[in-house]
Amino acid sequence: MCIRPSEAEGRASFETRGATRRPAPTVIAREALASRAMRVGVVGGGLMGSGIAEVCARCGVDVTLVELDPDRVERANAAIERSLDRAVRSGKLDAEERTAAAERIAYASELEAVEGADVAIEAIIESEDAKRELFRELDAILPEAEFLASNTSSVPIMKLGAETRHPQRVLGLHFFNPVPVLPLVEVVRSIMTSEDTLRRAHDFAENTLGKTTIDSQDRAGFVVNALLIPYLLSAIRMYESGFASKEDIDDGMVKGCAHPMGPLALADLIGLDTLLAVSASLYEEFRDPASVAPPLLNRMVEAGLLGRKSGRGFYEYAK
Ligand code: NAI
Repeated sequence: MCIRPSEAEGRASFETRGATRRPAPTVIAREALASRAMRVGVVGGGLMGSGIAEVCARCGVDVTLVELDPDRVERANAAIERSLDRAVRSGKLDAEERTAAAERIAYASELEAVEGADVAIEAIIESEDAKRELFRELDAILPEAEFLASNTSSVPIMKLGAETRHPQRVLGLHFFNPVPVLPLVEVVRSIMTSEDTLRRAHDFAENTLGKTTIDSQDRAGFVVNALLIPYLLSAIRMYESGFASKEDIDDGMVKGCAHPMGPLALADLIGLDTLLAVSASLYEEFRDPASVAPPLLNRMVEAGLLGRKSGRGFYEYAK
């Protein structure tokens, strides 16, 4: 469910949760949002980009989803349609809202299609070089945008901001998978991100998208992955060493600790390539051996066994 800016006026949001760090959004931003639909450019139409685009569209935001690979454009469109259908079946959307949400998303293969967007959210592959180049381009295409956000799990936000002429409007908005289901967004501030950018990003995530936010410094893994990734890597090491079967490891954490899914199933859901990239960045930053990828994870990624998105990881999935 989304809480639109107008509905959010009377709600106890960040105005009451931390007045000095997160003062009320400016009147200008709210008036701008009230007078026309907000426009968001989402770049990258994979697992996360399609989820972010769907959530934005369900919350009344016009979305341009940019994806380079034409096959993946088709897949993003199909994934969003399926997810919207599920939301109708479970009573979260009615048929009219479903149609309106689908119509709010425009698909494009050229980055220039985001021109004029109020906000950009980057969700391309977890490659520092690719993201740096993209932020240079976004900065040039969107000189007036409120903020440029990255959904990166591991690239320091400062490295992306440093590619732009306006590092003060660059920050991390780290969504969780599946985006339509999980309420959390980590808001990541680099040492150059301005208070105004933070304010606008909190307002967008909380009041436009109805998400719950937590703040993190610009450190590898942010809050959640700094805790989660060493745990997932331990589970892979445990399986690799023959200590226990994958089913028993997963059952142990589901039935013994009330986790909604076991660590190997969760690794498959996240994507083993993404897990590998995040573990490398954690190790680079903190030099903690707990963040070193086990050989099995390296071999699986080399073999293209990436988890759910490739149809096979620790488990097999119907495509
Ligand atoms: P993915 O591999 O499913 O999707 C990435 C997409 O970006 C691909 O479709 C690729 O064709 C496209 N792409 C690559 N370069 C592009 C460019 N220059 N312009 C437009 N599209 C481009 O990856 P996923 O899982 O969606 O992850 C995306 C980002 O979100 C990564 O930074 C990842 O670390 C982060 N993330 C991933 C989570 C997960 O659970 N998978 C959770 C939170 C963040």
